[in-house]
Amino acid sequence: MSLLITNIKQLITFSGIAKKGGARPQKEDLSILEDAALLIERDKISWIGKESQVGLSFPRKRESMDILDAKRMVVLPGLIDPHTHLVFAGSRHEEFALRCEGKTYLEIAKEGGGILSTVRETQKASLKTLVQLGKERIQKAKSFGITTLEVKSGYGLSYEDEMKSLNVISELQKENSLRLIPTFLGAHDFPPEFKNKKEDYVALLCQKMIPVIAKQKLAQFCDVFIDEGFYTLSQTKTILETALKHGLNIRIHADEFKALGGTELAVSLKAKSVDHLIAITQEGINALSNSQTVATLLPGTSFYLGKTPFAPARKLIDAGVTVALGTDFNPGSSMTQHLLLVATIAATQMKMTLPEVLSAITYNAAKSLGLEKEIGSLEVGKKADLAFFDVPSYEYLLYHYGDNFCKKVIYSGKQA
Ligand code: NIG
Ligand code: FE
Repeated sequence: MSLLITNIKQLITFSGIAKKGGARPQKEDLSILEDAALLIERDKISWIGKESQVGLSFPRKRESMDILDAKRMVVLPGLIDPHTHLVFAGSRHEEFALRCEGKTYLEIAKEGGGILSTVRETQKASLKTLVQLGKERIQKAKSFGITTLEVKSGYGLSYEDEMKSLNVISELQKENSLRLIPTFLGAHDFPPEFKNKKEDYVALLCQKMIPVIAKQKLAQFCDVFIDEGFYTLSQTKTILETALKHGLNIRIHADEFKALGGTELAVSLKAKSVDHLIAITQEGINALSNSQTVATLLPGTSFYLGKTPFAPARKLIDAGVTVALGTDFNPGSSMTQHLLLVATIAATQMKMTLPEVLSAITYNAAKSLGLEKEIGSLEVGKKADLAFFDVPSYEYLLYHYGDNFCKKVIYSGKQA
């Protein structure tokens, strides 16, 4: 089965950024092809060229293919959201109102709200309810042009409820409507019943949960929220080393409120990604700049929490660190799935250039998931994941902020 896409106004291929491996994206690295066409065979891209070359340098006759007219739209690789907490029940709109009255995220968490209030709701919800909520959220992500999503557990915090959350992700994967990358985040917080015996919960994570999850292949990554009031450096090290021993990859929440050495630890353990980094130190930046670990920044969270500063994106990029961006979609600190809106926040608040933010939600996000050889740029041999936007030029995607111009996605060669 082949599908020829014609009449593309701008095809943003990112092949230049792929060649560079993600660091310091410049405008020319977007590798834009004007008036382009693209051929898909099965789930992969098999030809890219100018519209005028179709039928000349082109391997097949038009009649033998399905044809999709892109109607002069701008086409990018399917967007990649490398950090979401998509499996949760309930809503925390009251907390949002309290924050607008001046309460902080950490104060609310200390009073029993925050992550633990979503844990209570998620524990109560059935697998079926969570799958239904997940389906709706995947449809929403797709409507924004996203074709790959990292999805974390972490609102279960018991063996049964973490297994339930990961099983929700595997049920959603069976639908095959988008590419989902599951991450085990049993170390998101401590369950209240372990408040005075935290080491016992770390032991439960390491001795029971991680081995079972790795064996059943329910997660590709293991994540830990290292911060004041959450996991310490030594607990994080124990958990991540256990995860590595069982064959999981690692990515962590680090330096969100306080730098506790999480970034340096993650780099030393060859994590694919360290995320947040609002409070990262110069030592952390130095460690990242000498590594293959991606810095995944989540400026939607700073924006939404209001009082939190933004991560030092410029310093990171200028130091040669590969920077990705994610929504951090969750019911507390970032209730949005709109990745391009987050990209606009990154551009205006963290002073990232357009080539930098667009690479951050495509190729660099793929790299943070270890998938850069398959997705994240439009090149022959890569997966045919595409997003179509009805805009006059790629700059418009961020310029007209908050609106959604995505009209269609193709996921793995299929119109979704
Ligand atoms: O990435 N920082 C930890 N976890 C989430 C927040 C989760 C919540 O508030 O429910 C985050 O921001
Ligand atoms: Fe998060």
